Amino acid sequence: MKILMVCLGNICRSPMADGLLRKKVKENGLDIIVDSAGTGDWHVGNSPDERMRKTALENGVPIDELRARQFKATDFQEFDYIYVMDTSNYDNVQKLARSMEDMEKVDLLLNLSFPGEDLTVPDPYYGGEQGFQEVFDLLDNATDILIKQLKENG
Ligand code: 4NP
Repeated sequence: MKILMVCLGNICRSPMADGLLRKKVKENGLDIIVDSAGTGDWHVGNSPDERMRKTALENGVPIDELRARQFKATDFQEFDYIYVMDTSNYDNVQKLARSMEDMEKVDLLLNLSFPGEDLTVPDPYYGGEQGFQEVFDLLDNATDILIKQLKENG
C-alpha cells in the first residue's frame, strides 16, 4: 500500500500530512509507504517552509528531512491513494489522470474528517504563524481517521 499527499508547493501542507502519516504508520506497525508532492515546481529540492518545520517540531512531528518534489503522471501507477489539500490541487492532479482508475485514486484529504463536504486545508503560505497550527490540527485529525480506516481494512 502506498499513499501520496499532494499540495501546491510541497513545502507546507503536504509535507506536514506526509510527516504525520509516516509517524502514525510507524507507531501502528503498518506496512504502508507514505510520500508527498506538489503540483507546482517552484520549490523542488527544498526543505519544508521554516514556519511549517517550527510548528511540526513544536508538535513533536519533525519534518526537516523531507524535500519537495513535483507530482508526476507516473505517481498514479505507483500510489494507491492520492490525497489533495484543496480543489485547485484536485483539478491539477486530475488533469494528469489517464484513466478512470487513476481519477478514482484522488480525493480531498478533509473528506476523511468531513465526509462529502469537499472542504480544503487552507494554504498557510501567505498568512501568519497561527495558520500553521490550524493546518497542523486539521492534518492531525484527518490522518488519525485515515489510520483508523487503514487498520480496520486490514
Ligand atoms: P503548500 O503552500 O502548497 O502548502 O506547500 C505553498 C507553498 C508555496 C507557494 C504556495 C503555496 N508558492 O506560491 O510558492
